[in-house]
Amino acid sequence: MVSKEFHVFTNAIELMEGMWPTPLLKLNIGNNVWAKLEFYNPLSQSIKDRTALFLFKEALKRKTEHLVEATSGNTGIALSALSAIYNVKFTVFVPSTAPSAFPVLMKLLGSEVISAGSSTNDLLPLVKRLSSFGGYTHLDQFNNEVNVLAHYETTAKEIEEQCNNAGINLRRIIATAGTAGHLVGIAKYFKEKRGDQIEIIGVNPAEGERIPGIKRVTPDNKFLKMVKIDRLVDVTLKEAVEGVKDVARKSGILIGLSAGATVAAFKKLGLIDDTGATVLIFPDDAFRYTNELSQYV
Ligand SMILES: Cc1ncc(COP(=O)(O)O)c(C=O)c1O
Repeated sequence: MVSKEFHVFTNAIELMEGMWPTPLLKLNIGNNVWAKLEFYNPLSQSIKDRTALFLFKEALKRKTEHLVEATSGNTGIALSALSAIYNVKFTVFVPSTAPSAFPVLMKLLGSEVISAGSSTNDLLPLVKRLSSFGGYTHLDQFNNEVNVLAHYETTAKEIEEQCNNAGINLRRIIATAGTAGHLVGIAKYFKEKRGDQIEIIGVNPAEGERIPGIKRVTPDNKFLKMVKIDRLVDVTLKEAVEGVKDVARKSGILIGLSAGATVAAFKKLGLIDDTGATVLIFPDDAFRYTNELSQYV
């Protein structure tokens, strides 16, 4: 029998929604630190399944036949999977600097992949041209507030319910930013409900550093204008890799580089012995970054 309780599902969207909440795991890298394991999402094995699902559902209401998006990776995989499920065409622009696994996975799911430029910013003019002149639907994860809503309505609520149920006295949340969708969605939820009782900390790649999946937040980021972020912490790629290694060697979990960046920020802020609970958002896992990680092992 089909049932959420026994994890039997009839399609991949039911699977995604039916597996929420994603796990909250206590880590052995500090006194009271927990990780939200977003690689338990089934399509892209990343936090971007949530954004993609919300964006995609909105696009379906507009009778979309051909989607276009610029993405450095995980969003492209999740949208490719949803396009396959709904039989919609998808053209995806991926920076040529993205980890090599990403375009392969998108092509496997049947998407048209165009690798160009060195960041999603370089690709947006190409995407805009296709949507203006080609009639493609641009989902626009960087400006579409549905991205923030996805995390306000799911990720943030899950964290609150999980902490309440487990008796975790939540003090702060540390998250990275690409679009800033999850950082802002989570921040908005907790600031509205708990004000400054909960500290929200954003993590930036340090000036000149490249950490896959994340960017330095800039004042023109539309989402960041929606809410107060208490602090921003700079992290280098090397520090993020140390974070990945630390969690691997102390907790036995293989996390991605942006997740490693949250660990680095946690350590930089001197929170290891803090008694108040910290939740780190781990957007994805290490398996897709083995090329990038190979020189550090
Ligand atoms: C691995 C990884 N970490 C962090 C992020 C940042 O998430 P957001 O776009 O919600 O800011 C992304 C976004 O694609 C990502 O792929």
